[in-house]
This record gives sequence, structure tokens and C-alpha cells, in this order.
Amino acid sequence: MKANGHTVMVTGGATGIGFALAKKFQAAGNQVILVGRRENVLQEAQQNLSGSRIAVADVSRAEDRERLLRDFPDVNILINNAAIQYTKPFIEQTNNEIIQELDINMTAPALLTRAFLPQLLNKSSAAVVNVSSGLAVVPKETCALYCASKAALHSFSQVLRWQLENSNVRVFELLPPMVATPLSQGKGHAHLKISPDELAEEFWRDFLRDHFQIMGGKTKLLYWLNRISARLAERIMRKGL
Ligand SMILES: NC(=O)c1ccc[n+]([C@@H]2O[C@H](COP(=O)([O-])OP(=O)(O)OC[C@H]3O[C@@H](n4cnc5c(N)ncnc54)[C@H](OP(=O)(O)O)[C@@H]3O)[C@@H](O)[C@H]2O)c1
Repeated sequence: MKANGHTVMVTGGATGIGFALAKKFQAAGNQVILVGRRENVLQEAQQNLSGSRIAVADVSRAEDRERLLRDFPDVNILINNAAIQYTKPFIEQTNNEIIQELDINMTAPALLTRAFLPQLLNKSSAAVVNVSSGLAVVPKETCALYCASKAALHSFSQVLRWQLENSNVRVFELLPPMVATPLSQGKGHAHLKISPDELAEEFWRDFLRDHFQIMGGKTKLLYWLNRISARLAERIMRKGL
């Protein structure tokens, strides 16, 4: 992909990894639109990223997705980054939490992509970027549906890439390792986490080279370890890092 001239919608763009990606795109000469549910958080992000646009929307709601499509006909890169994580035994998850986690992490990216695809196919160059996780490669014990949703997003990204390979729409997947963000707060060892900006730097290098499966930080190591010894990878990851 070329570095500039894009209009990029980042779901979950006001915080963490989404905000770091938005900063990277904006600095390279692209227009960015930050999407999230909390207006005050979006406004604060916009103040720190002047020139960005914001949209209050819950990507798991059909009417919000339709509004995003209506309001931003110029988008040619869609970054499906918004997600939530419940860290507790499955038996303690309520039905609503189960539905919400799968909706936000997997169904919403699919439906938002489906909604934007006709528009993306009409641009001279376009991309979908799905932010999954290293946990799509090897899961951990404490968050069953989060891991399941990310494995599904990983598989979806691969198949969508195949289905669109003769079109103008490129399909990227970013598989972050542990990154220091609100989502990972209080989980894992702080010294094993990279910063969102470091991850965005890695993403950017691979994005410009059309490397479609972008394994940030230690995800690459985990991927190869899993190929060499799935049992060892599982043993390391099961309890989380
Ligand atoms: N941090 C890590 O260690 C790590 C590792 C692997 C993968 N990831 C992935 O990286 C992505 C970004 O996460 P993060 O770590 O940067 O955490 P984060 O800062 O908590 O970002 C999640 C963002 O998603 C937004 N969001 C959540 N539900 C939404 C909804 N229904 N509609 C619209 N926006 C919604 C949140 O804003 P609102 O609450 O205001 O809506 C928030 O800005 C996620 O896909 C996550 O699974 C993170």
C-alpha cells in the first residue's frame, strides 16, 4: 500500500493500539476517523490528534454501522480494531457477556466489512485491516470467548484475503502480542508488554510492504514455536504471560 492519500476509519481508535495506528496514518498524510462508544474519550483523542474526525458509534449496533457508512463515503481503509475482553472462567460469564463479546469482537467486524465492501471495491485502492491477537494462534485459559473470537477473526481474515485477491481491496491482519493498553491493564507481566507506538511502527513497515499477516513483537516467536512444538507453546501460553 502507498503511505498517504488514504481515508482511514479506525474502530476503537481513541485509545491503545487503535490510537497509535491512527497517529501513524495521520503523520504520514492520511485522514483518520476515530470510532468508539464514549464521546468524551473520542474528544480527548481528537484534541491530541488535530485534524482527525470522530464518530460516536457502537459497532455492534446495526443502526450505528449504517450511520458510519452513510457519514463517511470517502473511507478507503477500514481498520476493525475495537474489541473487549472478559477475563474470568466461562461459567461465570452471563449470557449477555457472551453475546456481547462475540458480537463486538467477531460479528461486528464482519458486518462492518460487509457494509463497507461495495464502497471499498469502488476505490482505486482499498484495504481492510483486522486486529486479531497472538491468542488467535495459541489461546490462554482465562478468556475462552476472547480467544475464540480472535481465532475466528484470524480465519475470516485469511479467507477474505483469498476471496478479494483479484480485487483492489487488500486484507491485512495485525496479530499483536501483549501491548500496554487499557485492555491489558492488570493482566500479564508489565515488562513483557510493548507500547502501542512500538506495535504501530512494526505494523507500518509491513503495511507499506504488503505483508498481509503482521505479527507484532513476540507473536512471531509464538507462531514459530507453535509450529515446532504445539505442546510447548500451549504449556507456555495456557496460564498467560
Ligand atoms: N492490549 C493487548 O495486549 C492486545 C493484544 C492482542 C490484541 N489486542 C487487540 O487490539 C485491539 C485494540 O485493543 P487495545 O489493547 O488497544 O485496548 P483498548 O484501548 O481497550 O481499545 C479498545 C477500543 O475499542 C473500543 N470499543 C470497544 N467496544 C466497542 C464497540 N462496541 N464499538 C465501538 N468501539 C468499541 C473502546 O472504546 P469505547 O469503550 O469508548 O467504545 C476502545 O477504544 C483489540 O482488538 C484487542 O483485542 C490487544
